[in-house]
Amino acid sequence: MNKLFAFVFSIFLLAPAALEAAVYKGQNEFVKKCTKCHKSGQDFVSTKTQKEWKKLMNNKGEELASIHINSTNSDASASSEYFESSAYAKKAKHLSDFLEEYAKDSGRVPACN
Ligand code: HEC
Repeated sequence: MNKLFAFVFSIFLLAPAALEAAVYKGQNEFVKKCTKCHKSGQDFVSTKTQKEWKKLMNNKGEELASIHINSTNSDASASSEYFESSAYAKKAKHLSDFLEEYAKDSGRVPACN
């Protein structure tokens, strides 16, 4: 009984911290990889709703990748290498957490920490 309680209690304590870490990692990736083209940064993130970001970032960010890879805009094709890389696939979940966290309808704005 005590063990179960400790287990449940630790999940309550750790889950928000884990999500925060993922959001932070996603934010890092966004700043490093996306803002050089999407210069408005945070304003750009809040142009979409959580649902829209979720859809774009579904299945390791497949749709977001194909928008860039298949774009006829030469500014976007410069990012093909990144969007085809395993580094992107690995970070897609974190990016997704970050993008949804600060989506138009999330009611949150990033703190500068
Ligand atoms: C090399 C430049 C470049 C990089 C890097 C880049 N993008 Fe883009 N992105 C573009 C361009 C240019 C378009 C417009 C493509 C088009 O309309 O064909 C675009 C389109 C988009 C769209 C669709 C726009 C819309 O209004 O629906 C989203 C969302 C997006 N990018 C998000 C991101 C995210 C998130 C990252 C980082 C993981 C990123 N982009 C990295 C250049 C870039």
